[in-house]
Amino acid sequence: MIGLGIAITLFSPLVAWAISPTHIACQLKKPKGISALEGCARGTIYVSQTDREAKFTSVQAAVESLYVFPLHLSPIIEGVWGRPERGDATILIGEGEYFEIVNVTRSGPLTFLGQLDLDHLDSTISPTRNLVQIWNNIFVTEPPPAEDDAQTAVLIVAPSFNASLIGSGTNGAPLQPLFGNTDFKAYNIDFSNRAANFSISQALVTDISYANASFYGCTFASYQDTWYTGRNASTYVIDSVIFGQTDWFLKLAVVRWFENVVMANRACGGGLVAWKGTDLITAPGNRYGGYVSNSKIMRSPDANATTVTDGQCFLGRPWNDLATTIYLNTFMDDSIAPIGFIPFDSARPVIMNTTFYAEFHSTGPGGNVTGRTPIEHILTAQQAKEFTLEKVFGGIPNWIDFEYIDG
Ligand SMILES: *[C@@H]1O[C@H](CO)[C@@H](O)[C@H](O)[C@H]1NC(C)=O
Ligand SMILES: *[C@@H]1O[C@H](CO)[C@@H](O)[C@H](O)[C@H]1NC(C)=O
Ligand SMILES: *[C@@H]1O[C@H](CO)[C@@H](O)[C@H](O)[C@H]1NC(C)=O
Ligand SMILES: *[C@@H]1O[C@H](CO)[C@@H](O)[C@H](O)[C@H]1NC(C)=O
Ligand SMILES: *[C@@H]1O[C@H](CO)[C@@H](O)[C@H](O)[C@H]1NC(C)=O
Ligand SMILES: *[C@@H]1O[C@H](CO)[C@@H](O)[C@H](O)[C@H]1NC(C)=O
Ligand SMILES: *[C@@H]1O[C@H](CO)[C@@H](O)[C@H](O)[C@H]1NC(C)=O
Ligand SMILES: *[C@@H]1O[C@H](CO)[C@@H](O)[C@H](O)[C@H]1NC(C)=O
Repeated sequence: MIGLGIAITLFSPLVAWAISPTHIACQLKKPKGISALEGCARGTIYVSQTDREAKFTSVQAAVESLYVFPLHLSPIIEGVWGRPERGDATILIGEGEYFEIVNVTRSGPLTFLGQLDLDHLDSTISPTRNLVQIWNNIFVTEPPPAEDDAQTAVLIVAPSFNASLIGSGTNGAPLQPLFGNTDFKAYNIDFSNRAANFSISQALVTDISYANASFYGCTFASYQDTWYTGRNASTYVIDSVIFGQTDWFLKLAVVRWFENVVMANRACGGGLVAWKGTDLITAPGNRYGGYVSNSKIMRSPDANATTVTDGQCFLGRPWNDLATTIYLNTFMDDSIAPIGFIPFDSARPVIMNTTFYAEFHSTGPGGNVTGRTPIEHILTAQQAKEFTLEKVFGGIPNWIDFEYIDG
């Protein structure tokens, strides 16, 4: 058993590949004649559209098989007592493109493994760098509340429909009493919303609400609102690529940490991070916010050259006045505006001092903090020590796989 994880960076310094020592044997694409499930933990469920060994051809069918009763036969009222579930589960997803919405409502730990071919690791900044792609093309066609942005997500991890909603205004949808998945993990999978090749409206990739979830070596691609971490949720993303254009990191409540990711600007709109914070009375001592650490922000290779002009992309804008967004040790190319953060819109033209916008040791042409908005905090090394993973999550989360990232 390998004690430490290995992080392999091949060919290009741009996108890290990291392999899970725990799961690699299962994830490897097997030669003909060898079961795809060779090397997998007992009980692993296999999904493939082409391999007849697979029990399911869609990821969602595999997820639904984890309930004791099929969803439509469930005698329990959803969202009230929950539905009886089978225990911890792992789903191996075979190479291929899956056109579907994946909706994880269960609370038991669930791991998605994307099949891997170590001879063909793609290190380019591409929305299809993995062998497995899960995608959809839904986008918002009517303004909320007629339609909630959440209804466009490709991957939903939330205990109920109401818990998945974003809502509008500075406070969003009403607080829900449930907590959903306590430990959702995905390895080496591309998730994308392909509604268009440009920003048409909100078209989410993830909606993680009232859940704890982590992602390893994945990509998330859309234009507007790519990533959404909702209320009561904590998310952790490492060695991944996120593509977007407008407000492409959104969130409502708890903590979202991105480590060694590439944030690829497909165009500039709103801010990279549009955040709603939570006050200290509702959540005393909270460090809720968006944290981007040891990462790179750059023009996407597929960006429209006329829309990503130099210095036109902003680091964030405050969806409410309690927004917290912090960039640590992050490279920023010249697509980033010297001012950094901007007010939300003309109706709220001032960034209030109740927000907390900060940077520590930004590098690259967009990382020159001389011209940043005065409300921003440029942290000293001593101050930056307050923003470690352990401190912002209030302890080292037991739902993060650290074997993967060591080394
Ligand atoms: C996800 O599943 C829940 C529970 O069955 C359901 O209420 C919700 O509408 C589903 N969401 C989508 C987008 O299918
Ligand atoms: C979901 O929210 C709606 C509107 O707030 C409410 O009428 C409904 O009862 C809620 N459903 C559940 C299962 O809580
Ligand atoms: C989670 O939601 C409950 C209400 O369901 C709320 O009381 C609690 O403060 C929330 N916790 C966090 C960490 O936001
Ligand atoms: C996006 O562009 C690609 C390549 O030009 C094309 O194949 C694809 O159909 C386009 N998709 C949409 C939704 O416009
Ligand atoms: C680039 O964006 C501009 C402005 O939105 C648009 O007019 C043009 O058609 C886009 N070009 C391509 C190749 O998508
Ligand atoms: C924050 O701004 C308000 C005015 O909007 C001002 O009264 C207050 O003193 C400021 N607080 C700090 C800590 O600067
Ligand atoms: C940073 O920007 C300022 C102007 O805002 C400029 O004077 C300075 O030379 C720049 N520093 C670097 C290292 O480019
Ligand atoms: C979710 O993660 C947070 C941060 O690690 C932790 O404090 C919380 O207890 C977790 N929630 C559940 C229900 O496991």
